[in-house]
Amino acid sequence: MAKKIVLAYSGGLDTCVAIRWLKEERGYDVIALHIDMGTEKEFDVIHERAIAAGAAKAVFRDGKADFIRYFAFPALAAGAVYQGHYPLATALGRPLISKLMVDVAREEDAAAVAHGSTGKGNDQVRFDVSVQALAPDLEIVAPVREWDMKTREDEMAYAARHNIPVPTTKESPYSTDENLWGRSIECGVLEDPWQEPPEDIYELTRSVKDAPEEPSYVEIGFAHGIPVSLDGEELDGVTLVKRLNFLAGEHGVGRVDLVEDRLVGIKSREIYEAPAATVLLAAHEALEHLTLSKPQIRMKARVAQEYADLIYNGLWFTAYHQDLVAFVQSTQRHVTGAVRMRLHKGRAVPVGRRSPKSLYDVSLATYDKGDVYDQSAAVGFIKIWGLPVRVQARAQLLAEPGEPLRIASPEQ
Ligand code: ARG
Repeated sequence: MAKKIVLAYSGGLDTCVAIRWLKEERGYDVIALHIDMGTEKEFDVIHERAIAAGAAKAVFRDGKADFIRYFAFPALAAGAVYQGHYPLATALGRPLISKLMVDVAREEDAAAVAHGSTGKGNDQVRFDVSVQALAPDLEIVAPVREWDMKTREDEMAYAARHNIPVPTTKESPYSTDENLWGRSIECGVLEDPWQEPPEDIYELTRSVKDAPEEPSYVEIGFAHGIPVSLDGEELDGVTLVKRLNFLAGEHGVGRVDLVEDRLVGIKSREIYEAPAATVLLAAHEALEHLTLSKPQIRMKARVAQEYADLIYNGLWFTAYHQDLVAFVQSTQRHVTGAVRMRLHKGRAVPVGRRSPKSLYDVSLATYDKGDVYDQSAAVGFIKIWGLPVRVQARAQLLAEPGEPLRIASPEQ
């Protein structure tokens, strides 16, 4: 009996060809696993295509709720954004796909798992490292990394030779990946970082020039750092993110054009669309500024960078991740309240925030009547705060009495 392999199968050209290749070249019985993380493709069509390509079986899993609950929202609470711009949609999807591949491999008593990543990207690392952590006994095969087909044309020729029906959707020069947290687009003309991305690459966001002239406002409710409502209506995470993707996408919110550093050492130009993630990250940060202290905010920003790198670099299933989560969760105890966001012409801006745990005290901040802040006490505070500055300035900065104090001189 042939050994079984579970292939993470998107329904696209690469993974269709991979089904046949795994069967012909490696002798596996292929179980094609399709996971919906927000693209909601018609499984009937994809299922048939997998069987026609030579799969022994096609399996479907709806990963949307788990993706939001265990991956996207924890990353939101952490404020995880890679290199300041990328909300990590693709990177967050990989560990869940790995987990589901392993689950199905166990159910089916398979010996191996397979994924459609190339040998040049981050995704191969995320899949391989995650599977190695979850199921070290499973073999991992990455057909695209191993076969000698170089181009889309090579794959089309292979498909024709083997009579494999391939996706009939119009040919795209781009490589894309999509889930509820966002969409990633690369290749084609985008490989020239000087070229402005053509408008037709976008699917989730309207161009700013076609976005409504009037802004929309949306109020996002958070409980302990997790979004729970839109405009006062309590929603499950999947519905909330879907609605927000649509609403913010209409206003052209969430486009990112980034030259980023891949883990494998290559700089690459990638375009992202992440309407809901962009709005939620900005809203969440605004609520943190209301409810966290200054050192909490500062430390959290450092942890956010660590967290983003960890996700990007495929280290989701690690003890270090658990350590970072412990800190993040502790910070979110009082991040409860609502933020009103204005969506307009490509921008998502927090314009109002409130919280039962707010640290903002108007009677301290006000310049109007009702002020309880003791301004005379500031004098003593400044005397002590400035003490070491005065001592050092006298001893070291004002070398010649009467000389103007210069911190840096242009001649130096
Ligand atoms: N650069 C992004 C990452 O490493 C996205 C990778 C997948 N992109 C794609 N266009 N297929 O997470």
